[in-house]
Amino acid sequence: MKRGFIAAVLVLTPTLAVAWPWSQDMMNQPSIKPQETDNGKLYQFPKRSVPTFGIPTKVANREEAGKLTNPIAATPESLKTGERLFKIICSACHGLTGKADSPVSPKIGAIDLTTEYVQQQLTEGWIFGTITFGSAIMPAYGKPGEGGGSNDLSVEERWHVVNYVRHALAKASSPAVAEAGSK
Ligand code: HEC
Repeated sequence: MKRGFIAAVLVLTPTLAVAWPWSQDMMNQPSIKPQETDNGKLYQFPKRSVPTFGIPTKVANREEAGKLTNPIAATPESLKTGERLFKIICSACHGLTGKADSPVSPKIGAIDLTTEYVQQQLTEGWIFGTITFGSAIMPAYGKPGEGGGSNDLSVEERWHVVNYVRHALAKASSPAVAEAGSK
């Protein structure tokens, strides 16, 4: 009986310990927490902070980006990631099929991404640069501040989107597939 009691105390002790106030100590520190606000405004990342994932963009503008070669092979995994990101970010303006068929497309003047112009004439680097720095109306997704831009897409993610646009979008938006996808 006595042994049983001691065993029970031993088993329960660690469970009680986590409830002590000091078990929260690591949380209470001066670092800025995700989504923490300052007078209702989200904290901006300090100017020189670098993402913990991926390398920062090394090119200064879209012209320079145009000369880059795509470092990421268009593997099925890359296309899958690219497709997911395309649907989240690009489709609002360019349409789920990329054919500028979203309700917003005509209002904003978003172009069809399955045309020969985007599929053949533009370099992959230029498309990467367009996503990074934005275009005339299109916002930037790799450079905060530029034309209302954000850094929503890491360098790798942008190349995955380029892969999807160039290697799968035109095929995915063929009538039969688009029809199936819209159901
Ligand atoms: C807020 C709307 C919007 C979103 C979101 C958007 N675009 Fe665009 N995009 C446009 C508009 C408008 C144009 C045509 C006018 C211009 O060049 O800005 C365009 C043009 C382009 C061009 C052609 C650039 C050129 O040199 O002619 C490419 C390529 C492109 N977008 C790819 C993308 C990709 C990939 C995404 C997702 C990462 C995306 N866009 C997200 C609005 C958008």
